Amino acid sequence: MEKTIIVSNRLPVDLKYNEGKLIVKSSTGGLATGMKSVHSEGNGIWIGWSGLTEEVISPEQKTEVNEALAKEKCVSVPLNQYDIDNYYYGFSNAALWPLFHYFQAYTEFELVHWQSYVEVNQKFADVVLEHLNEGDTVWIHDYQLLLLPELLRKKRKNITIGFFLHIPYPSYEIFRTCPWRDELLQGMLGADLIGFHTYDYVRHFISSVERLKDIEINFNEISYGNRIIKVDSFPMGIDYNKYHNAALEHHKYPESSKSELMKNIDFHNKSNEESKLILSIDRMDYTKGIPNRIKSFEYFLNKYPEYKGKVRLVMLAVPSRENVLQYQLLKKETDELVGRINGDLSTISWTPIWYFYRALPFDELIDLYVSSDVAMVTPVRDGMNLVAKEYIATRTKENGVLILSEMAGAAKEMHEALIVNPNNFDQTADCIKEALEMSAEEQKTRLEALQKRISRYDVERWAKEFLKGLKVAKNTVPVQIAQ
Ligand code: ADP
Ligand code: G6P
Repeated sequence: MEKTIIVSNRLPVDLKYNEGKLIVKSSTGGLATGMKSVHSEGNGIWIGWSGLTEEVISPEQKTEVNEALAKEKCVSVPLNQYDIDNYYYGFSNAALWPLFHYFQAYTEFELVHWQSYVEVNQKFADVVLEHLNEGDTVWIHDYQLLLLPELLRKKRKNITIGFFLHIPYPSYEIFRTCPWRDELLQGMLGADLIGFHTYDYVRHFISSVERLKDIEINFNEISYGNRIIKVDSFPMGIDYNKYHNAALEHHKYPESSKSELMKNIDFHNKSNEESKLILSIDRMDYTKGIPNRIKSFEYFLNKYPEYKGKVRLVMLAVPSRENVLQYQLLKKETDELVGRINGDLSTISWTPIWYFYRALPFDELIDLYVSSDVAMVTPVRDGMNLVAKEYIATRTKENGVLILSEMAGAAKEMHEALIVNPNNFDQTADCIKEALEMSAEEQKTRLEALQKRISRYDVERWAKEFLKGLKVAKNTVPVQIAQ
């Protein structure tokens, strides 16, 4: 039976050993949380890294790991510590991630990192080839595996390969600074269909191909050898019903659904029924605009002091890529900012910022989504941002306001949110005020429009459209021009 093989660096589950016991946790991040529901319904497999390096597992544990993964229809690519240091922390997260998010000053181009990236992409290719049968479709995800489409194409000329990039594709002027730009493009061009979240990213990609490769491009079709490669935008959605139904369930049993975290926040707030809660949730990543968000909240409190004591920012940051220097510096900056602002402004009965540095289980995440009056999703650059969509899906009582950065791919589809430039503290402060004071009727009107769109273009539809596009791309034959 034909199957779809999903390939990404990270599997939907993240494995760890704790005192000899195998712990299986869900991975965080948009790729894993989004693709999880697509994968659970299909008959395919998901190939990726388990979170464990070869050095830390014994042969017996390896069997246990493979069995645990097989239950999740997953297959692991064995990676060692050198690979993780150089391919993952190195080229993927200290070169490509900052480069594609326009953080040029953070970008490190190291030859050893690049060499490891090439080797590890080959390791992924080897595992995929072991599992690939005639008629299968391979769907490759994200910047860690830009070389994989071409590596597979070289070995199996006729297979169907889709590639989707979950992060922004930068302007050519940024992309051209990469010493291995030709190899990266060549790698991606092994696919039959290349997908991005937004049309802007499509344009940037096509412009890179036009300038770096001498090949014919017709609108969104690239003629390459005897193949046609299609390029298109597919804005990723979420599993809307999962979030919406969880919120409905939460409202049905409000007391038993309350997390310890919210109980605690409520307890400290019992003296002030009027108090409002602003939510902020992301991986701890410099692209997410966390310091700017905190500073604009402080700016808001100083510009509109009547809100002091009446509004709290609940900030949740999941630890991410902690071995990379820039992430360590960001954590330090965030800790210090929160400490300083709380030190400056707190009173006996009010702490302005509640900050948690951890991943939360799904139910607690839902509790936070439904309990907040406003969500601030203000990245300085973000391919899409699924948190914005999850927040909207959980607003089952027709109230709640989303403040969304214009730099997130999601802003292209979510016009009814309050759209801000996260570098403009004055504008952001005014938007916070507008959100807190928005009439119930306006909240409802905006939410209805957002919910209609987000529920229609959910993750299942996104995957279907991509796979449909892939089939069409595969069957598009280059037109032979008569001489
Ligand atoms: P990215 O992919 O860059 O991390 P997204 O907003 O697209 O950003 O996706 C983040 C995903 O991780 C969402 O599905 C969100 O629910 C999840 N997530 C974010 N923060 C937490 C947290 N503290 N605990 C659990 N899940 C989280
Ligand atoms: C973003 C990337 C994903 C990545 C995720 C979490 O969503 O697009 O490829 O998996 O962040 O990051 P991590 O480095 O922990 O896998």
